[in-house]
Parts: sequence; structure tokens; C-alpha cells
Amino acid sequence: MKFYIDTAVLEEIQEAHDMGILDGVTTNPSLMAKLGISGKEAVNFHYKAICNIVKGEVSAEVLSTNYAGMIAEGDELSKIASNIVVKIPMTGEGLKAIKYFSAKGIKTNCTLVFSAGQAILAAKAGATMISPFIGRIDDSNWDGVQLIEQIVHIFGNYHFNTEILAASIRNPLHIVKCAEAGADIATCPLSAIKGLLKHPLTDIGLAQFVEDAKKFM
Ligand code: E4P
Repeated sequence: MKFYIDTAVLEEIQEAHDMGILDGVTTNPSLMAKLGISGKEAVNFHYKAICNIVKGEVSAEVLSTNYAGMIAEGDELSKIASNIVVKIPMTGEGLKAIKYFSAKGIKTNCTLVFSAGQAILAAKAGATMISPFIGRIDDSNWDGVQLIEQIVHIFGNYHFNTEILAASIRNPLHIVKCAEAGADIATCPLSAIKGLLKHPLTDIGLAQFVEDAKKFM
């Protein structure tokens, strides 16, 4: 399973990159807004800075909701760096845009996927990856991981090439469950990635080894 980090904060991206486990980055307008970045030039400059840290795929989201706007924005975003993936919302207009970019050989990430039906449509349109938001599904009293399992099953039936990118991950257990379910990618906050590191027996074991090492060093 590939690991992406879900943030626009450069320091966090650098930290995950330095851990040696980072395969890519996802961002969204809310994450960009949190940083106070505004204006197209500043946003594009920020994407460039992210692409300078990470060689893997970097999802950059279009802000338009109509086909013409998505095409114009996506074409521009794709020119920022060769590893940019154009992130497009799961709508009828979005599907048309995915089809357009797929024909041009530009990678797409269909975002805001909340059902298997939406996942099938995005795959049929040629999305490179789809993003089911599992945390938000859990928040609404459904089972997000179960949706990943369902999509893995369906895509397997038809050998769709579209990758399943588990998004809206909230904690380390989500990551492990998505790996069990067969997600191709998990995009995670840095805290969830770091949470995977932790086990009390590792800490106790290491403290003991350090103590014992003093006896012969
Ligand atoms: C994915 O690409 C989204 O940016 C993200 O995972 C959304 O997560 P949230 O539900 O925590 O906002």
C-alpha cells in the first residue's frame, strides 16, 4: 500500500519524506485555506514547493465546479510539475473532466467519493485514482472501511486499473484496516502515520537494551 500525506504544510511533508515512507501528497482547498495561502499564483507556487520535496504523485484540486472551469484549471495545474495529479470532485461535470484528462494522459484523482456507485462511475470515466472519504463516513454513523472492502471487491471483478485511495483517515487503525481491505493508497495526517510507530513493548524493550548495553560498553 502506498502512503500519501494529507496536508499542505511543507514541514509535515518534509518530515514524512525524511521518514522514508512517503509516496505522495494530497491537498484540498480547506487544507490550503488553513495556511492562509490565497490567490492562484500563491497556490500554484505552493504546489511547486510540494513537488520539489516529493517525487511521487501530488494531488492538486480544481476549484471550479463546471466542466469548462475544471478543464482550464486542471490543464494549468498539470503544467506545474510532472507529478501533479488533477483532483476533481465526484459530480457529473467532474466525470466529463476526468474523461477529458484521461484521454490526454493526465492523471486524475476523483475526490469526495462516498459510495460504491460513485466509485464505479469514476473508474468508468478513467480516473487514475478515487478517494473514498472513510473518516467522514464513520462520522455519519456508517462504516468507512466497509466501503473500501466493497470497492476493492467490485474493481477486482472487472479488473479496473483505477487505484483506491483511502482518504479522510483519522487514526493509525484506519490505516491498518485499509491495508487489510486492500486499498492501493492511504492518505493520512502526519499524526496517524506517526501513530503507527508506537508500541509500549517497543519502548520498554528499547529502554532495557539501552540499560543492558551499559554493562558491557
Ligand atoms: C483527501 O484527499 C482529502 O483531502 C482528505 O482526506 C479529507 O479529509 P478530512 O475528512 O479529514 O477533511
